[in-house]
Amino acid sequence: MKKLTALALAGCMAVSLAACGGSASTTPASSEAASTESAATSAAESAAESVTEATQGGKVGVCIYKFDDAFMTTYRNALQEILEGKGYEVTIVDGNNDQAKQNEQINTFITQGVDALIINPVMTSAADQIISTVKGADVPTVLINREPTADQMSAYDKLVYVGCDAAQSGTFQGELILDTENKGDINGDGKVSYIMIQGDPENIDAQLRTEYSVKALTDAGVEVEQLDLQRGDWDRNKGQEICQNDLAKYGDQIEVVFCNNDDMAIGALQAIQAAGRTVNKDIYLVGVDALDAAKNEVANGNMTGTVLNDAKGQATQAVASMEELLGGKTFEAGSQSVYVDYVKVTPDNVKDFQ
Ligand code: GAL
Repeated sequence: MKKLTALALAGCMAVSLAACGGSASTTPASSEAASTESAATSAAESAAESVTEATQGGKVGVCIYKFDDAFMTTYRNALQEILEGKGYEVTIVDGNNDQAKQNEQINTFITQGVDALIINPVMTSAADQIISTVKGADVPTVLINREPTADQMSAYDKLVYVGCDAAQSGTFQGELILDTENKGDINGDGKVSYIMIQGDPENIDAQLRTEYSVKALTDAGVEVEQLDLQRGDWDRNKGQEICQNDLAKYGDQIEVVFCNNDDMAIGALQAIQAAGRTVNKDIYLVGVDALDAAKNEVANGNMTGTVLNDAKGQATQAVASMEELLGGKTFEAGSQSVYVDYVKVTPDNVKDFQ
């Protein structure tokens, strides 16, 4: 860790030396200025190379909120593959959906002297505590998947958040319904009657997907009626149970099943099929994540669509941000979040994602 910091500092000093000779770099005033510049540049280059060599053998601790989550499993596997491929010593731990347990895991990583942390918090509300812990130990950290506020992040300049704009995924879900032949109004009564199967409501992804999926409809002038909203905690079995109960209670009134993620949508699909309903004919079903199972169902016509939550893209960006931090870069308040785009997945383009 010390070696890393020293090398990173050498790199920064060399770079800022070059920057000080700024006027020299465009119009060298003398050969002395020019040679100072090139000495500084080559010092920066060799320091940068050393940082790269050193960091790539570094120790990285990864905390995942719980292993038993379909999307975070693909994300975790992508992180492991990328980090190991770059020669890092990686340890990934399961928080079992228990914030107290994850806090201990973070402390253990710090005691073990990790060079960097990648953390998927169990609870968004724990962000302040997590940030103060990693700041106290001066460990560069990338938070993923559960976005803290810009204000919370501003407490530590060696902290970056990598994720997606959850509102965008909600909007895309609404647009998938607007793109159907009857804009979701299957029974032609002038309004779209839906049920909403929500993820963990403490999670901003769940909050914004719930809000923006419906907002896309109302913004387009479509009248809506919410028959039910229940938390399914991102879980397939809960998605199945909620949808089964709602189908028993509301029957043909349900025209659209919005699920905050695909795993719950796959569960909902089981309930829909068991009730003898047919997706895209007498009911619509949308999810988010583009899990393999969901992409197959979109291709088979058993899901109206999903939204790609790009696990590989986010994992790649998380590692890139971690390497910037390890290279000594700091981040100003308001520029600590990096977003990867969501993409709509429909029967027309699903092949591109399979
Ligand atoms: C969301 C994802 C869900 C679940 C959740 C965990 O982005 O769509 O499936 O993994 O993160 O926080």
